[in-house]
Amino acid sequence: MKDYQDFLDEILISTEVLEKRIIELAEEISMDYKGKNLHLICILRGGVLFLADLMRHITVPHTIDFMAVSSYGVGARRTTGQVRIALDLKEDISNRDVLLVEDIVDSGYTIASVLDILATRHPKSLKVCTLLDKVARREVNVPIHYRGFAIPDQFVFGYGLDIDEYYRNLPFIGTVDSNRYEPQD
Ligand code: IMP
Ligand code: MG
Repeated sequence: MKDYQDFLDEILISTEVLEKRIIELAEEISMDYKGKNLHLICILRGGVLFLADLMRHITVPHTIDFMAVSSYGVGARRTTGQVRIALDLKEDISNRDVLLVEDIVDSGYTIASVLDILATRHPKSLKVCTLLDKVARREVNVPIHYRGFAIPDQFVFGYGLDIDEYYRNLPFIGTVDSNRYEPQD
């Protein structure tokens, strides 16, 4: 993998700005879920950094679980609309106040399918929290209850989001200069 500095176009959201917004989201969630049975479901793998930082600032008791779905072919950048459960939840969600924690909503197919699947399992409530929202790319209408940032239609990486599976560790969200990056597919 190339050094990310070689294809980073710009830092779209800095570490400081991410942190400040995530604290605000956690405060909002903590107020809304007071006295409830909050169960955070992180969609792997992109949501892990967001989940870890968000839950650190949530002040109400809660539990977590993970699931993985695949919507993108290896290396491909476009979603197909087909989503498959690659790893299912460990726990039953019936009677829990489920909040899905996602890195980014792009076409919306991933979240729409996950919501359909989870709704059949009778959670008490089911809401969505996404760090990023690429509004202009939406193909299916999905409810977003908590949103970190609306971003333009550009490929981003860092802070959980990968570029060909690398650089999820970066503490900021960066955009790719496509003239300086060759997809690995
Ligand atoms: P959707 O089903 O089109 O909404 O796609 C959502 C998924 O696509 C996210 O969970 C990401 O894994 C991936 N994705 C969409 N846009 C980007 C991006 O700009 N960078 C990295 N991953 C992305
Ligand atoms: Mg994802």
